[in-house]
Amino acid sequence: MSLTSAPSSQKTVRQAVDTIGRLEQLDGVGEQLERLLRPRLESRGLRNALSGVWLGHRLHPMLTDVAIGAFTGAALVDVLAPRHPQIARRLIAAGVMAAVPTAASGMSDWIDVYGDARRIGLVHAAGNSLALGLFGISFLHRGRRHKESDRHGGGRLSSFAGLAVLAATGYLGGHLSYVLGVGVDHTAFEPRIEDWTDVAAAEEVLEGGHKVARAGEVEVLLTRTEGELHAMANRCSHAGWGLDPGKFEDGCVTCPAHGSRFRLDDGSVVRGPAASPQPVFEVRAENGRIEVRSRKG
Ligand code: FES
Repeated sequence: MSLTSAPSSQKTVRQAVDTIGRLEQLDGVGEQLERLLRPRLESRGLRNALSGVWLGHRLHPMLTDVAIGAFTGAALVDVLAPRHPQIARRLIAAGVMAAVPTAASGMSDWIDVYGDARRIGLVHAAGNSLALGLFGISFLHRGRRHKESDRHGGGRLSSFAGLAVLAATGYLGGHLSYVLGVGVDHTAFEPRIEDWTDVAAAEEVLEGGHKVARAGEVEVLLTRTEGELHAMANRCSHAGWGLDPGKFEDGCVTCPAHGSRFRLDDGSVVRGPAASPQPVFEVRAENGRIEVRSRKG
C-alpha cells in the first residue's frame, strides 16, 4: 500500500458521509418519523431507560456491542467452524434479539438531533434495518426446513452481506459520535476551576432566583433555593445548550432545548435525554461575594 493512499481514502469516505449529511431530500422522511416516534417516547420512565439515565452513560453504544458482537461471532463460526451452522444460527438469534432495544435506544437519541446528524442517523438506521433483514433471512435459511438449501450457502451468504452492511452503518454511527458529538457529554472539555474564584455579589442571587456567572472559560449557573446556594455548569451535558433560559422548579432546572431535568443540588439527571449528570461546583458566600471551585476528585 502506498503511503499516500490512506489520506485519499479518508477523503473519499469523508466526502461520502458529508454528502449523506447534505441530503435534504431525507428531511421529509425524518420529520414523519419523528412525528411518529416522539409521542411514543414521551414517558419519563421509558425515556430515562432508553437514554441510559440509570447507567450514567448513553445506553445505545453499549447495546450495539452486543448485537454487532453476536452477528460477528456468527460470521466467524461460519468461517472457522463451518460444520456448526446451528451455533451460528443461535448467535444470529441473539443478535436479532439485541437489535430490538438497540434500535429503540438509537431512535430515542435520534429524535433530538438536527441537520446533517439527523440525516446521517436516518441512513444509519435504514442500513441497520437492511442488515437485520439479511440476518433474519440467514436465520431462516439455517432452519430445519431450509437445511437443504443452505448446503448451497444461502445462510452464510446473507449473513456475510448483513455484516458488510453493518460495517458501513457502524461507520456512520461512529461518525455521529466521534465527529458530530452526538451522545457525548458536552461538559467533558470544560476546564476545572481549581481555586476558589469570585463570580458574583451575593445579592445578585436572591431566593428562587438564578444568575449565569463566569469563572474563566466556564459558565456557572448560580441558584439559591431554601436559603442554599448552588452552582452547576450552565452548559447542558446532553447537547451543550445553556440551561439558564430553562424552567426552575422543585429544586430542579429543565433544559429549554430537549427537556432534560437536573437536580440543582447535585446535578443528577431526573429526566433524559441527558444521561450524564450535570457538573456541580463547591460554592460559598464570603464578605458579600460568591465564590466557586470544582469539587475534588
Ligand atoms: S441540550 Fe438537550 S436537553 Fe439540554
